[in-house]
Amino acid sequence: MLEEQLRNALQAMPKAELHIHIEGSLEPELIFELAQRNSVSLAYPTVEALRQAYAFSDLQSFLDIYYAGASVLLTAQDFYDMTAAYLRRAHADNVRHAEIFFDPQTHTARGVPFATVIDGIWRACRDAPISASLILCFLRHLSEEEAIATLEEAEPFRDKFVGVGLDSSELGHPPEKFARVFARARELGLHLVAHAGEEGPPSYIESALDILNVERIDHGVRCLDDPALVERLVRERMPLTVCPLSNIKLRVFDVMGSHNLRRLLDAGLAVTVNSDDPAYFGGYVNDNYLAAFEALPLELRHARQLAHNSFAAAFLEDEQKRAYRAEVDAFFDKLY
Ligand code: ADE
Ligand code: ZN
Repeated sequence: MLEEQLRNALQAMPKAELHIHIEGSLEPELIFELAQRNSVSLAYPTVEALRQAYAFSDLQSFLDIYYAGASVLLTAQDFYDMTAAYLRRAHADNVRHAEIFFDPQTHTARGVPFATVIDGIWRACRDAPISASLILCFLRHLSEEEAIATLEEAEPFRDKFVGVGLDSSELGHPPEKFARVFARARELGLHLVAHAGEEGPPSYIESALDILNVERIDHGVRCLDDPALVERLVRERMPLTVCPLSNIKLRVFDVMGSHNLRRLLDAGLAVTVNSDDPAYFGGYVNDNYLAAFEALPLELRHARQLAHNSFAAAFLEDEQKRAYRAEVDAFFDKLY
């Protein structure tokens, strides 16, 4: 059992969340509510039946059901309601700042205009009880031409998102497939991140760094297979946005007790803890901290480190980061 002081600290400590797909925060209850609102038919008769289907064997088996769930989103109000629900939940977990992924191609492919998607999500962020910014993700199972067209569609809304990312099916879709669209995003002054080393090999992490010029690696847990890469990631203080519950649900690790979070920290890597797709993987960001600390030899000093890392890795001004750093230290100095 997790010691009460540690449990309380994990819940109450100020933190940033940097790896959350907003479509992955769509709870089954809201899926059903939106399906009814929009007269969309679902393959599952009840909320319980849908939840029962959340047993995944790998990333692809999850993505199939995740894209089906997103099919109920049609109007800006739908996107607003989904995002507002996540932000309320994050606030309750003492998340001070969230950087939120969204997948426009999942919606534009169904005829929902890009403007509708970003309008609803962005307004919810503006109205939120915490600070939040948006990262537009390209779906890597689609072509680079489609990603380029999406970025062009997004350009009139440049002030509403801070970066671009790369998600969806990793294996067979290496970062270099998206070299040109990331170069264009860089010219636009956008921040760059990419999922790499979730199911894919360490070489995908390397090409995300060398070819895409990313500033953070999403997941990256497979870096430990390559000691030279670990050395580089440590030297460059490259953040890894790790998602413990996701890694168990998608079978990247068998059980939480064999997750490599503690080993990543011991190697000196700039690890952060995040929820990925909280509605599908059994919990929001605090549930991820609690599950990892429950199963692994992690202590208060690791909690402080992870909270610091979360703000250090955020796309915030240095002054803002210093203020959050001081807030984290003030919080932990009272405890030990
Ligand atoms: N899209 C939503 N969640 C994802 C994940 N864990 N990996 C890749 N793409 C995703
Ligand atoms: Zn992800």
